[in-house]
Amino acid sequence: MANSNQLSKIPVIASPLPTFIEELYTKYQGLKEGTVANYIPELAKVNPNLFSICIVTVNGEVYEVGNYQQLFTIQSISKVFAHGLALEDHGRDYFLTRVGVEPTGEAFNAIILDEQSKRPYNPMVNAGAIATTNLIKGVDATERLNRMLDMFRRYIGHDVFVDISVFTSERTTGHRNRAMAHLMLNFGMIDPNIEESLDLYFQQCAVMVNCHDLAVMAATLANKGINPITQEQAVDSRYVRDMLSVMYTCGMYNFAGEWAYKVGIPAKSGVSGGILAVVPNQMGIAVFSPLLDARGNSIRGVKVCEELSQRLGLHLFECDNPLGKGEWQRE
Ligand code: DON
Repeated sequence: MANSNQLSKIPVIASPLPTFIEELYTKYQGLKEGTVANYIPELAKVNPNLFSICIVTVNGEVYEVGNYQQLFTIQSISKVFAHGLALEDHGRDYFLTRVGVEPTGEAFNAIILDEQSKRPYNPMVNAGAIATTNLIKGVDATERLNRMLDMFRRYIGHDVFVDISVFTSERTTGHRNRAMAHLMLNFGMIDPNIEESLDLYFQQCAVMVNCHDLAVMAATLANKGINPITQEQAVDSRYVRDMLSVMYTCGMYNFAGEWAYKVGIPAKSGVSGGILAVVPNQMGIAVFSPLLDARGNSIRGVKVCEELSQRLGLHLFECDNPLGKGEWQRE
């Protein structure tokens, strides 16, 4: 058995992560391709040069670079967490009667429902996300919003707030989302009070986070639903697999297949420029950069995640892992 003298001779291997994310930050800072989202007028005002990368491990170690304290609206990344809350409120079987789990291969705002079941395809596209938010319980709009905000607090570790100007901007211009809600109401797939559900959906999209917060949220999902910083259980661990499965197949919209092939970890993007990615039992990754490609994914965010996955061997189906599963961690 090793005594303390022998143990002190074991070399301490510093984590490669700080140097690596600095390298990625420097490498991609000069990449200016893409455009900021402008279909929601408030989002068009963002500084396109903002850029940050943050990794939080399941042990609570934090590595971050760039504008990681810059606040932005969470947008579609909220759909992952609303999915978890709806599963907690209704269970897997009932949830599946209202929202499917099939990728669409279409844009996030496509107005389509499954021909036979009339369900929206999955909770990551707008139609499915609106139906998911519709399932969140509460006696009135205030209670539903408070339950949603409290859920975000558990994942992040501090109180969150809704950006009123983005919420109002989206509520005023969200005719497409309103059309989807009416279509689903026509088929009896959502409750009649659609304005209340749409407001809650617009509010969830307008919750303010920074890149650090997103990485803690991702690390919570990597850590069986337990926030690795506060140790609070943010979501029932039995639903984490549902959330990650849908992220894996549908989280990057009509880029989901290529993402699964190349990057190989569950992830979700939002039109404000965030990407949140989860390496189960290892770490949460977040990148923020508002310049988007035609599918609505952050261009630098995709590049950073591709390279992180490749260099650290994070692809879930990697057999020939260059570093060995989890060996990027400090000894
Ligand atoms: O419904 C919308 O259009 C936005 N609130 C969310 C869009 C979004 O982030 C889609 N993602 N790429």
